Amino acid sequence: MKVDNMRVLISAEEIDAKLAEMGRAITEDYRDKDLLMVGILKGAFMVMADLARHIDLPVEFDFMAVSSYGSSTTSSGVVRILKDLDQEIAGRDVLIIEDIIDSGLTLRYLMRSLRVRQPESLELAALLVKDGVERPPTDIRYEGFHIPPEFVVGYGLDHGEKYRNLPYIGVIEG
Ligand code: IMP
Ligand code: MG
Repeated sequence: MKVDNMRVLISAEEIDAKLAEMGRAITEDYRDKDLLMVGILKGAFMVMADLARHIDLPVEFDFMAVSSYGSSTTSSGVVRILKDLDQEIAGRDVLIIEDIIDSGLTLRYLMRSLRVRQPESLELAALLVKDGVERPPTDIRYEGFHIPPEFVVGYGLDHGEKYRNLPYIGVIEG
């Protein structure tokens, strides 16, 4: 799909190579565990689907939906659970899958509310981490790319709910 004024930041090929690398590490680390991947909707749906195909284990899936931004491009810090997990996570090895860590506010809230449910382990994988942003200390076990503090779209990430289907990560200029 041709999009006007789009600057490609990370190509589809680069994304796939990185997910393959992350998938190999996860496969190693969770070999004797009970892996439950939890994708944060909607942004993480592409990462979830493609990363999972690089994980060579009998993994299970669940999703949560939270709202943090509305349609604006700056974090409000207000997080609401729109859809909770279907399953209990007590005793499970939970790996949260995020598209991007920006202010980290969504995640901090999520990790806190999941930790009280007493999973055996709770880790985080994120495709993108924004640099140059002040955020509470966040332990990201598996991270893909560091990017500059720009607003990016594509590969699950939206601007006003559009552009999620782009196979690359890009910045709209102008
Ligand atoms: P955070 O709470 O600021 O870390 O970000 C929460 C959510 O905002 C992320 O999971 C994304 O869905 C969205 N978000 C953050 N930065 C961007 C961006 O550059 N483009 C599109 N969505 C973003
Ligand atoms: Mg969004």
